[in-house]
Amino acid sequence: MSAPKGPSLATLLMAFGFPLFVLLAVVTGFLIAEQGGLAALSVPDEDAETPSADAATLARGEYLARLGDCAACHTARGGKPLAGGRAFRTPWGTLYSSNLTPDPEHGIGRWTAAQFRHALAHGVGRSGLLYPAFPFESFQHLSADDADAIFAWLRQQPEVAGAPPENTLEGLAGWRPALIGWRMLLHRPWALRFDDARGEAWNRGRYLVEGIAHCAMCHGERGRLGALDRSRRFVGGRILGQGWVAPPLDRESLAHWSRDDLAGYLRTGVAPQASAYGPMAEVVGSSLRHLTESDARAIAEYLLSLPPLPQRPAPPARPARQTVGPASTALYEKHCADCHGRDGRGRARVYPPLDGNPQVVASDPVNLMRVVLFGAAPPTTPGNPEPHTMPPFADRMPEADLLAILNHVRGSWSNDAGEIPPYQLRQARALPLE
Ligand code: HEC
Ligand code: HEC
Ligand code: HEC
Repeated sequence: MSAPKGPSLATLLMAFGFPLFVLLAVVTGFLIAEQGGLAALSVPDEDAETPSADAATLARGEYLARLGDCAACHTARGGKPLAGGRAFRTPWGTLYSSNLTPDPEHGIGRWTAAQFRHALAHGVGRSGLLYPAFPFESFQHLSADDADAIFAWLRQQPEVAGAPPENTLEGLAGWRPALIGWRMLLHRPWALRFDDARGEAWNRGRYLVEGIAHCAMCHGERGRLGALDRSRRFVGGRILGQGWVAPPLDRESLAHWSRDDLAGYLRTGVAPQASAYGPMAEVVGSSLRHLTESDARAIAEYLLSLPPLPQRPAPPARPARQTVGPASTALYEKHCADCHGRDGRGRARVYPPLDGNPQVVASDPVNLMRVVLFGAAPPTTPGNPEPHTMPPFADRMPEADLLAILNHVRGSWSNDAGEIPPYQLRQARALPLE
């Protein structure tokens, strides 16, 4: 019996190849359109326009550059301001920020205003697509006017020659053109429109939070390939590449905050509910402390309006309450109660409360462990010029006592969180200090 003769290659191509080609073209066209078209993905041509640089524009540019924290990310530790080279650790290797000074060779000296605007709006720089460690997922919401003001201000800063170190990203992640695939699959630009149903302040707050202040950069959840999930941009979680958790920001998570306390926290780093530490202390210290009072209140109004979003369910754990007893109480009273009080209520704006503190009872207790192991200090701000600090306890007592205290605060007063197992504390000890 002879095998039935199949269709010829030419017939196959006609039958499947052509429709497949059309499908591919349609899908690619659709994905590019989703990015805002080819123009969004390319670098705008040179133009001769120079942004106006009157004093008011420069002052606005400086204010916005502070809220955008450009200098924090674009200055290496101990390096010259804005000269780039700060390292960003990611699961795929290390990446370095670029030189933003007006140096023509390595900085933005040859950039046009249009190119700069385009970089913020679309995450495409003069040398190609930019990694999402640069918060263009937020900066896309910046108005063209505001981007121009930042550009004008940056151009007035001292030139610093020198390029950042080469990135050490592995595999495909190190190949910049691969970002095109990442963009198409994972990045969906979106626009903010003034919401007439809300007041001026709410709209301003949203503009700042979603845009220049890039709160979602840390308070949002990222997928496996590091893309920010728009629908989960305030659910909190581990910050990519860092051993810190950012708490959720929505009206339910912030239910115990008043608008005034929240606005005050952003500008001063302290509030009766909590004080800023770790990455948040850095953000307040370099950026948010510059907020005008009305902008801080606008941000607070917006945050307190955010609908709660589903958070990842915590794995069940034995309640820490079961380990609270006379021994752990004695340890707490000896080492912690002087500042945080026997009742765990602390002292408003001086020592944060531990009772009812979401960070103390968080399902991922890494912040709690880090603060107690390594100590913490809120930022120095005009509103809180001499912050009290939290001493480090890593070397002050045996591991078992430390664990007993941690579980004591997780299970005392109104707190009812899961017990921290010893291995988690050991992992926290090994985290790089930053
Ligand atoms: C969270 C950290 C972070 C913040 C905040 C940040 N940047 Fe960046 N930025 C980066 C990183 C990292 C890169 C390098 C990205 C890359 O190489 O793809 C970068 C790249 C850039 C580039 C592209 C430069 C080039 O040579 O291609 C521009 C322009 C830029 N940033 C402007 C700004 C401005 C303006 C601000 C403040 C409003 C700002 N950035 C705030 C991390 C940051
Ligand atoms: C660099 C990362 C980062 C950025 C950017 C950032 N945060 Fe945070 N934030 C954190 C971390 C980490 C914490 C937990 C530590 C703490 O409470 O101080 C935190 C805590 C907070 C808290 C305290 C919540 C609580 O329940 O105690 C508030 C409120 C807050 N952030 C608001 C904001 C807002 C608003 C923005 C944008 C204007 C912002 N954050 C930007 C990392 C960040
Ligand atoms: C000398 C006073 C002092 C002592 C003693 C002290 N703390 Fe603190 N603690 C502070 C201060 C001040 C802060 C605020 C630090 C910051 O925001 O950076 C703080 C912050 C904290 C936080 C973070 C709370 C938040 O959300 O802002 C926790 C948790 C904490 N302490 C637990 C403890 C435990 C447990 C002990 C005992 C082992 C202890 N502290 C001992 C002063 C103290």
